[in-house]
Amino acid sequence: MRNSLLLGCVLRPARAKDIWAIRKLVLSAKLDPTQIRWSQFWVIECEGRIVACGQLRCFPGAQELGSLVVAPAWRDQGLGSYLVKYLIQQATQPLYLECLGSRLTQFYTRFGFMPVSWTELPRSLKWKFGVSQLATKILPIIPVTIMRYQGLNDWEGDR
Ligand SMILES: CC(C)(COP(=O)(O)OP(=O)(O)OC[C@H]1O[C@@H](n2cnc3c(N)ncnc32)[C@H](O)[C@@H]1OP(=O)(O)O)[C@@H](O)C(=O)NCCC(=O)NCCS
Repeated sequence: MRNSLLLGCVLRPARAKDIWAIRKLVLSAKLDPTQIRWSQFWVIECEGRIVACGQLRCFPGAQELGSLVVAPAWRDQGLGSYLVKYLIQQATQPLYLECLGSRLTQFYTRFGFMPVSWTELPRSLKWKFGVSQLATKILPIIPVTIMRYQGLNDWEGDR
């Protein structure tokens, strides 16, 4: 796993003026555009353009890593992994996420996230994640996985 950012790229907290770039990234990835508050986001800027974003949302006793998107032309170069690792470091509460499909579940497993059941969630997240869990029950073809950050052994973090 790559531990440094691409040359010419910086990771920084989002600013108010980044809101449209963030919305564009989130919408282009068909992720939920309703929970976008720029002050909760971090972005990666490369050659003067916002090419990746992700946010940490705070709930009582928990945080959610969400809205992780890398612009298609910038994928598979380590930016998404770099951002996930950075957001994990910034988290100050038990960290959770929801993801769709086995490929993303595998992606997040590398960083120390493990699937958990809805019943194990803190109360503050049960309502939020309950909606998609219900959708999965009604339409099992939508494989939504809830994951919690459990940490990594040192050797795994160096992969
Ligand atoms: C998932 C995503 C953020 C990864 O960003 P990235 O910068 O390409 O990732 P990295 O280069 O750090 O790592 C590459 C890994 O990402 C994973 N990946 C790449 N594209 C992916 C995709 N469309 N869906 C799921 N995982 C993907 C693969 O596991 C890949 O691993 P490999 O090297 O073994 O093939 C990016 O593909 C993306 O923005 N996808 C669309 C939005 C999305 O699904 N976000 C997650 C919401 S929970």
